[in-house]
Order: sequence, then structure tokens, then C-alpha cells
Amino acid sequence: MKKPSLHYLVVISMLVTATCHPLILVPGSGGNQLEARLDKDYKPSSFWCKRSGGWFRLWFDPTVLLSPFTKCFNERMMLYYDADLDDYQNAPGVHTRVPHFGSTKSLLYLDPLLRGVTSYMAPLVKALEKDCGYVNDQTLLGAPYDFRYGLAGPGHPSRVASQFLQDLKHLVEKTSRENKGKPVILISHSLGGLFVLHFLNRNSPSWRSKYIKHFVSLATPWGGTVEQMKTFASGNTLGVPFVNPLLVRPQQRSSESNQWLLPSPNVFRDKAKPLVVTPRVNYTAYEMDRFLEDIGFSQGVVPYNTRVLPLTEELVDPGVPITCIYGKGVDTPEVLVYGEGGFDEQPNIKYGDGDGTVNLASLGALNHKVESLKTIEIDGVSHTSILKDEIALKEIVKHISFINSGLAK
Ligand SMILES: *[C@@H]1O[C@H](CO)[C@@H](O)[C@H](O)[C@H]1NC(C)=O
Repeated sequence: MKKPSLHYLVVISMLVTATCHPLILVPGSGGNQLEARLDKDYKPSSFWCKRSGGWFRLWFDPTVLLSPFTKCFNERMMLYYDADLDDYQNAPGVHTRVPHFGSTKSLLYLDPLLRGVTSYMAPLVKALEKDCGYVNDQTLLGAPYDFRYGLAGPGHPSRVASQFLQDLKHLVEKTSRENKGKPVILISHSLGGLFVLHFLNRNSPSWRSKYIKHFVSLATPWGGTVEQMKTFASGNTLGVPFVNPLLVRPQQRSSESNQWLLPSPNVFRDKAKPLVVTPRVNYTAYEMDRFLEDIGFSQGVVPYNTRVLPLTEELVDPGVPITCIYGKGVDTPEVLVYGEGGFDEQPNIKYGDGDGTVNLASLGALNHKVESLKTIEIDGVSHTSILKDEIALKEIVKHISFINSGLAK
């Protein structure tokens, strides 16, 4: 008799849905909705920013695209570093919360009224339901979080992000319990991957082997991105043509997780290759504190040196099977060249390999660092299209089926 082929076994396992491991999605920065409420301590900077009533959607709200409201959005999204607490906080009078923790609801579309243009993880969820037999909100769950906050190195508090890791732990345990004790598959996109890696490393080996089946990382910027230096220096319109990048820059600089995504010397190691070039001074990843100072963001220097650098010093193998799936072959900012106009003007950009946002060196930084690692590179798929592109979705779904077949390590 012929031995059944691998493909045949995968199909069988897909039919026997009982073998499916429950799955939790961890989105990237800006990848889920955030809600806010303003109290009497909130001081609107203009007539346009006045607002009464209860909770409203802070992210994503399309009025951010209209300039008087861009300012309101900016002042509500700002974080402040409190040196006494050694931690970040919301702006005075601004309360925020993450709706629908545990569900995929707040990460399918960023604005449920504008599903077409704000679709985020909806195509991936659809593909997992259709081809793997997952049932949304039963075997397929979501872990949204306040993506403005980041984790910090040992000995430094990070109240909001640490609470997220606690909530995620409870969600993993509950999900496993409700699925006959099966360990869970975690799928992350972008920044979510950094959170998952630290989440795994902050739990014990016995907890991990009991509760985690596999970690599938989609396009994680393990060592940050060069593009992030442009965001700090000159603002980032996120591809929306009529947003003034200098209007959103203060808020983008204030975001703790954005600092986490600055290029790490751990990955951008070449001291002879500057990432930012100006007429008089050049900057490598080793000179990030000087860079923050020179762009006019000296408030960032202390938290960067004390909280972010120690966090990114090392990528630690959490001892669970990991698969890194990412795009390459897309023009990705590698060197930013500023002229005499300084950092308020947009730089000329020299491109290198990557997924359009994250440099290839950063996407592949777990190679040779993690024992049980599989890497799947997909040519021509960008940082965001990895969640939508048909070939990418097929590859992800195929790999999830493979993990469920029990043939993956
Ligand atoms: C900065 O880098 C550019 C390009 O690598 C180089 O031509 C220039 O001499 C450098 N400037 C300084 C001050 O090191």
C-alpha cells in the first residue's frame, strides 16, 4: 500500500476539526479600536475639541483627517512620561479603554462604519474560518491592547502593558480550558510579535509547555525599523496624503511603543553605516539618544536609555516552536538623508530590502537565535498586505493546518 502523502494528512486533519488548537490573534500598532472618555480635567486646545458625553471611539475615527480635528486627536492620544513614577500616562482628563478584549471584534475593522477602507484582520479571520474550520469567538479569539504603551526593561514599571500581559495570560488559560485543555496557537502581526515574545519569556517553561502550542509571527520588527527614525524626526502621515506630518509628530513621539520600534543596535550593528545622514552629523543605531536630542525630543532620552534599550538588548529564545512569516523584496527605507532644511522637512530616502516598512535584517533577526524556528519568506508581500494578499493568506492558513496536523514540531 502507498504511504499517504503529507498533503493527504493535512486534509484529513482539517476535516477532523476536533484536532484544531484554539487560536488567539495579537494585532500590531494601531491594529485595534481604542475608546476614550474626557473628564473635567481635560483642557481642549480649541473650540473644535470640546466634547461632552461618555465613551467614544478614539481610534480609528475618520475625522482625524480634517485638520482642526487632527489637533484634537493628537492631544487625546498623547502619552506623558512621569519621571517620579518612572512610567507613562494618558493626558490629563483623558481616560482610555480597549473594547472587546478576548474577541476579534475590535481588530477586524478599525472603524465598523467604514469596513472597506479600515479592514484589518477581517480577511485573515475569514480565511481561517473557511479553510481551517475555526469558529470566530469560540476557537478563534483576539487580544487587542492599548498599542501606545510599551513594556520596559527589568526593574521599570509599565502598568498598562504589564496588565495586558496579565489579561493575555488569563485569556490563554481560559481558552485552553474551554477547548479540552488543548494548548493555544498565538498569531501576531507586527508590534504584537514583540509583546508575544516578552509574554512568553515572562512566564515559566512549565506554563509555556502546558498552554502554548506554537507562536506564529507575521512581520515582526524584531529590531525595529529605520522608518521609525523618520516618524520621530519628521512625522508619519501613514500614507494619508492630506494629513500634515508635523501635526501628528508630537503624538507619535510621545508613544512609548514607537520608541520600542526605533532601530536597535542589537540588529542594526554596523557602526560604519549611518541610518540617518545630515549635512554635519550622521547617526547609527548606537547614537539614538543623541538623535532624539538633536531632533528636538530631549524628553525621550532618559526613558529611551533606561527603559527601551535594556528591553531590546537581547532576543531571548522562549523555547516554544516559532514560525516567522514575512514579506521581502519590497523597497524599504534604509538610509534617511536630510538636507539643510533640517528635520522638519521630509528626507530623501535610500531604499533596501524588506517588507516596505520593516528592514529584512529586522524581520529575520530570530534566525540562529531560536532553536525551534521555521522561517517563511514571501516575495513582494508588504507589511500590511501580508494580512490581505491571497498568496500570503494561503501560506498562513496552510501553515496553521500543518501545526494542527501535529506534524510540525
Ligand atoms: C555621513 O555619511 C555620508 C554617507 O555615508 C558620508 O558621505 C559623510 O561623510 C558622513 N558625514 C560625517 C560627518 O561623518
